[in-house]
Amino acid sequence: MPIHEVKHPLIRHKLGLMRRADISTKNFRELAQEVAALLTYEATQDFALEEATINGWAGPVTIEKITGKKVTIVPILRAGLGMLDGVLSLIPSAKVSVVGQVRNEETLEASTYLEKLVGELDQRMAMIIDPMLATGGSLISTIDLLKQAGSTEIRALVLVAAPEGIEKVLEAHPDVSIYTASIDQRLNEKGYILPGLGDAGDKIFGTK
Ligand code: URA
Repeated sequence: MPIHEVKHPLIRHKLGLMRRADISTKNFRELAQEVAALLTYEATQDFALEEATINGWAGPVTIEKITGKKVTIVPILRAGLGMLDGVLSLIPSAKVSVVGQVRNEETLEASTYLEKLVGELDQRMAMIIDPMLATGGSLISTIDLLKQAGSTEIRALVLVAAPEGIEKVLEAHPDVSIYTASIDQRLNEKGYILPGLGDAGDKIFGTK
């Protein structure tokens, strides 16, 4: 299924705390990383395992280990950085590919200003992270560039998603799975998600 709204009680509780208007930068930052880690747990449920025999404390023991594709995490600057440590806490050996997207506040169109991708993208699962899936412009543009660079398996982890953005992304890229802590109501006239979290980048970095 391409869209996964993760309804785990910890996620719902933590996301509820993030919606408070008076939340501190410190709390918002911590919660963003925690929810990102919980989304990562969900988004990796289907990772393949293989058996191996190792020397355990009492002799040979058969263990399981994750096999198959390696992972690159793709934070979309700047707000995506607010989820990076949470994802890395569960996939510590993942390589990081950074993409910078800027949104024109009048047209709401996204354009790429930075792309620093790791190699062998065709052999890695790309996990894009961005707290807010609003109009979908930045995510579509990032998926476009990852596919052009060789990615064949792409997942997106977002804290909150608007139905309008989900529809646009899945129309352009039906093969991409989206994991979110909440599908919210709608976008406002400025492209902000309602009820949403406000400007996630500002809240993570303490700007404004
Ligand atoms: N970006 C944000 O930070 N918040 C929104 O609601 C939409 C885009």
